[in-house]
Amino acid sequence: MKFYIINGPNLNMLGIREPGHYGKTDYSELCNMINEHCEKKGIEAVLYQSNHEGDLVDKIQEAYFMGADGIVINPGAYTHTSIALLDAVKSTSLPTVEIHISAVETREAFRQISYIREACIKTITGEGVMGYLHAIDDLSAYLRKEIDE
Ligand code: DQA
Repeated sequence: MKFYIINGPNLNMLGIREPGHYGKTDYSELCNMINEHCEKKGIEAVLYQSNHEGDLVDKIQEAYFMGADGIVINPGAYTHTSIALLDAVKSTSLPTVEIHISAVETREAFRQISYIREACIKTITGEGVMGYLHAIDDLSAYLRKEIDE
């Protein structure tokens, strides 16, 4: 199985930005955690982070053209603003899990909207960086079930 793990704006600042919300693990440590987890599970992981909306759209499309089985995405602040990311995920029809490090549902009103959510099979929030591993496990369980059925 091949998964694209896509992170949006400011997630390269993990470990520096607002540790009360996002913890102390930095982006490169997060990448190592994800790579190790995927290696153990026999999943090929393609990791990507960008601060630019169009580049994130390009990466979602690339996941489709490169034959990915699914996507795990933390769109960062674009969660709350981007119809382009929603359309990109819809256009691939790839099973996608939305993940947020913080408990967005307990935060500001503007964080209560997620455009991408309606195209996702699941949303994980408030589990810190461990949420990425949970998202990968849920995506692989979903795909295994689909193969079995
Ligand atoms: C975030 C939550 C968003 O509201 C915020 O803009 C982020 C990170 C999270 O992982 O908790 O950049 O997606």
